[in-house]
Amino acid sequence: MKGLILAGGHGTRLRPLTFSGNKHMIPIANEPILFYGLRHLARAGIREVGVILGPIQEGIREAIGNGSDFGLEVTYIEQGAPKGLAQAVQCARAFLSDDPFVMYLGDNLLQQGVRPFVDLYEAEHPDAVVGATPVAEPRHYGVLELDGDRIASIEEKPAQPKSNLALIGVYLFTPAIHPIIDQLTPSRRGELEITEAIWQLHRAGRRVRVQRVEGWWKDTGLPGDLLDANDLVLDTLPGSAFLRQGTIDPSAKLIGSVGVGADSVIEGDCEIRGPVLIGRNVRIGRGARIGPRTALGNGSAVEGAEVRRSIVLEGTRIEGPVRVHDSIIGRNVVIRGGSGAPAELTLIVGDAAQIRA
Ligand code: TTP
Repeated sequence: MKGLILAGGHGTRLRPLTFSGNKHMIPIANEPILFYGLRHLARAGIREVGVILGPIQEGIREAIGNGSDFGLEVTYIEQGAPKGLAQAVQCARAFLSDDPFVMYLGDNLLQQGVRPFVDLYEAEHPDAVVGATPVAEPRHYGVLELDGDRIASIEEKPAQPKSNLALIGVYLFTPAIHPIIDQLTPSRRGELEITEAIWQLHRAGRRVRVQRVEGWWKDTGLPGDLLDANDLVLDTLPGSAFLRQGTIDPSAKLIGSVGVGADSVIEGDCEIRGPVLIGRNVRIGRGARIGPRTALGNGSAVEGAEVRRSIVLEGTRIEGPVRVHDSIIGRNVVIRGGSGAPAELTLIVGDAAQIRA
């Protein structure tokens, strides 16, 4: 069994945050989104993983290298211009050879991981396994209509969805998918659609099994999704993930699950309300109020300011009387409160911005 993780695409909707990088490297609970998929593949016993790269790919090869940190052997596959999920599979044809494979969309987070997909495949040897879960707005997804256990229809982003069951971004395919993909023609949006390939596979009489997803699943297309994902991960991380290192003043108030990385300093007169993850070499100065549901990247600093329900990337400083909430703040940003009553800020900003409240 091989793995294929997609880290190409347009990334249009997250462009404000990623002008100096790739959207799959945005951290959720202080870990790039892409790492979650890689770990899930490794935990399911998969060793050989292809990583699909698109036109914006800064930081990905540097962070993953040959995959050995994840227990994987990684091969990079250039897709170039993103022409659809099925076209990404076509680009990976030589790497995949005639092996079955788990395909994981690199901007998805799936609490249960991919093991249930592999288990179902090993127990029944179907031609494909697709994951599905009920969603509030099925129009935005590939929608699956079931008749008992049988697939009645699959449609990509239908105007009038026939059910509320969305296809999630994890699939298991056998080589039976390749000739089907080779016959696809571009959809209205000019892409080779994986949903169409799955539908054609089913119509050709092949066995497509549906795996109902347990636990949460999140597709992180929009900034708000990143904050939701950060909430979900922080709320469900095991207690052991909230290790406290660094130097913590005994008068600082740490409430609930608070993780502090090595070389960080937490001064007195601050309050940190978990779940909160603080990276390495972070300074939390006097008067700071952090959390809940906040992740501060390595080398960041907060002093005299409040930060709640936010993702703050590396090297960013937030100082003075200001209340930052429901925000995603890029790398090396400086936010300074002015004089007077603290300003309330909700920000989605890319790297190196300078903001005076
Ligand atoms: P999408 O969310 O469908 O699209 P996108 O990443 O291009 O972003 P936007 O809609 O904001 O412009 O992509 C799902 C995942 O698959 C994502 O991780 C990117 C990846 N992908 C590829 O690797 N190749 C492709 O051709 C496409 C369309 C997506």
